[in-house]
Amino acid sequence: MAVREIVLIGDPILRQKAHPVERFDPELRTLVRDMIETMRQAQGVGLAAPQVGVRKRVLVFEIPVDEDDEMSSSVPPSPWIGKPFALVNPEILEASQEMEEGIEGCLSIPGYVGEVRRHVRVVVQGRNEWGKPRRIEAEGFLARVLQHEIDHLNGILYVDRLESRDKLYKLEEEEETAAPA
Ligand code: NI
Repeated sequence: MAVREIVLIGDPILRQKAHPVERFDPELRTLVRDMIETMRQAQGVGLAAPQVGVRKRVLVFEIPVDEDDEMSSSVPPSPWIGKPFALVNPEILEASQEMEEGIEGCLSIPGYVGEVRRHVRVVVQGRNEWGKPRRIEAEGFLARVLQHEIDHLNGILYVDRLESRDKLYKLEEEEETAAPA
């Protein structure tokens, strides 16, 4: 396993559409392991392959149990919280009409957060790193992270979705970037 370098805004790869994964091979699993290690080291909650310079439709996420009160108190608790997961070739199958604003950061845009409107609930389908189908019914913070990461695979950054420039906030140096993705 290795921590990889995170690509920052301005790098063209963040603006390109990533390619579907065709082979679920050891190289893919190494990428996933490295992405999880990189995300953890950067204290992020999600990471997309273009953010480590790899133009493939792969994302990882790890939502802390206490990150979303609504979800952690839901019964039964979401199986997608509290552990790292990979999603390969993800597609959003369904998205709620209902939207909500929330604060997002991005590991590729250090020092800033923004208030972004996202679907409250999404159903996402993809595969795990072994090629096994994976279907995630997500709401709240997890739904937000998945939308953020799938945007990365399409060359979209959260700053593109801000309703106005004054929804972007610069962090003070000592402030932590709250749960960037
Ligand atoms: Ni991001």
